[in-house]
Amino acid sequence: MTVDADRRSPPCALVIFGASGDLTARKLLPALARLADYGALPAEVALIGVARTPMTDDEFADRCRRSVAGQENPRWNDLTAAARFVSGDYDDPATYGRLAEVLAECDRRHGSAGNRVYYFATPPRLFGPIAVSLGKAGLSAPTGDSFIRAVIEKPFGWDEASARELYADLSTAFVEDQIFRIDHYLAKETVQNLLALRFANSIFEPIWNRT
Ligand SMILES: NC(=O)c1ccc[n+]([C@@H]2O[C@H](COP(=O)([O-])OP(=O)(O)OC[C@H]3O[C@@H](n4cnc5c(N)ncnc54)[C@H](OP(=O)(O)O)[C@@H]3O)[C@@H](O)[C@H]2O)c1
Repeated sequence: MTVDADRRSPPCALVIFGASGDLTARKLLPALARLADYGALPAEVALIGVARTPMTDDEFADRCRRSVAGQENPRWNDLTAAARFVSGDYDDPATYGRLAEVLAECDRRHGSAGNRVYYFATPPRLFGPIAVSLGKAGLSAPTGDSFIRAVIEKPFGWDEASARELYADLSTAFVEDQIFRIDHYLAKETVQNLLALRFANSIFEPIWNRT
């Protein structure tokens, strides 16, 4: 199966913070493998893992392949074979210096064009400090036509005060339209109610579709 050209990812470097963790192994890498299988990840997409655990690029590539055992897609094989790994503490500016070098290499080798997606798959208390460090390292502001995005998985704070605190930290580096929040619990019932309203209701369904 292949996707339409307009649903293919643009060139970009996908940077996963927390690349040694459970979310990365159980959800993110299998999802990426499926996108590769669908033809949604062109050769200009590069994968970079960041974590404290020391690992070589090859060890990270192995870990990616083991997370998605049995996936024999050539694009997934190429993506993982070229994957890079940066190890270091999240509060150490040298970690972000190495990340900047690897990102520049990805732009040169893969044509990722200065586009970056930072995926925060670390324990939640690290989201703010990582964002602040990215900003200080000059890695959060896009140049020219490029885009830089930050993806935050739930929880986005535990209450209003902690959500505001996290947003304040993110805002030191990113503007609102760079920030993507994923929370599959928030508003779940509201969304289910919308589906019921639409499909169980002969008044709304005919006027609430694309024709
Ligand atoms: N797992 C899931 O299915 C799932 C589902 C939805 C949302 N989430 C969210 O995704 C995020 C990651 O979850 P996860 O289950 O992947 O977490 P995890 O496995 O506990 O942690 C991810 C990585 O963070 C690093 N880490 C752990 N403790 C640390 C510490 N004290 N200081 C610095 N780094 C530390 C570890 O890597 P290093 O030691 O190598 O740095 C670890 O591999 C969380 O915000 C979670 O709420 C997870």
